[in-house]
Amino acid sequence: MRTNATLVINPKGGSGKTTVATNLASYFASKNIPTTILDYDPQGSSLNWLRTRPLQAPKIHGANGAPQKTGLRTVQMHVPPNTEQLIIDAPAGATGMLLHEMLLRAHSILIPVAPSAIDIHATANFIRDLLLKGMIRQRNIRLAACANRVRSSMPVYAPLERFLASLSLPMLGRVMDSDVYLKSAETGTGVFEMEFAQSAAERQQLVPIVEWIEAPQAKVDPRIPQPRPSLLASLPGRGDLRVITKSIPAFLTKAS
Ligand SMILES: Nc1ncnc2c1ncn2[C@@H]1O[C@H](COP(=O)(O)OP(=O)(O)O)[C@@H](O)[C@H]1O
Ligand SMILES: [Mg+2]
Repeated sequence: MRTNATLVINPKGGSGKTTVATNLASYFASKNIPTTILDYDPQGSSLNWLRTRPLQAPKIHGANGAPQKTGLRTVQMHVPPNTEQLIIDAPAGATGMLLHEMLLRAHSILIPVAPSAIDIHATANFIRDLLLKGMIRQRNIRLAACANRVRSSMPVYAPLERFLASLSLPMLGRVMDSDVYLKSAETGTGVFEMEFAQSAAERQQLVPIVEWIEAPQAKVDPRIPQPRPSLLASLPGRGDLRVITKSIPAFLTKAS
């Protein structure tokens, strides 16, 4: 069976990449699906989380994709060939070759977004830059966002939702700000592995993300944005780049 690779990425630290990545991996592992987390972050938070997992917890393989000080990659980067769900935990601010390498592995990109205007702005710019790379379309990589650390009555996501909608990209729901995730981080246990009554709301909010990851690629291909030439225009000050000005809010078309 083919490995389905999901890259969890956001340019900002603290947006919830590791929280979402570890919880998704433990969901698949709890369903007896061979699962690997590939941690590209030199901080190794996902790999640390795996080390704190109870011995009896379903096995999740940990692979280390972070560039080593020697510049060499290690055998620890190996992803077992029987892996069905590969969750890639990205470091903050990944660019260049590292970003390229992660994109080459990914079938889907999931972007958790924290409820801060600065993070939302950075995320929208990041999505714009990803779409400009072309690799997303050439390789039919799916892209979706999810709000993270949501507290009630937070209108802060409205601009991001409009931005995503204008590109026909899904917002896969809202993950609440909850102590259950702090417990998950401390104990190496995913919310789907905790007592149901303790984590019912948290599970429910992750379901749309799980379903999106499990959905056959063909089902979502039409949602991949296919910019038409008529929608493209040069980005001010960056003549070699082109953006979808009709779809992207004005604040994003300013050269950054
Ligand atoms: N939904 C949430 N509810 C409560 N705490 C959260 C939530 N998401 C993340 N956190 C906490 O916020 C901090 C940063 O999250 P983390 O997943 O490590 O972000 P990133 O990997 O993007 O840097 C961690 O301490 C984590 O436990
Ligand atoms: Mg992290």
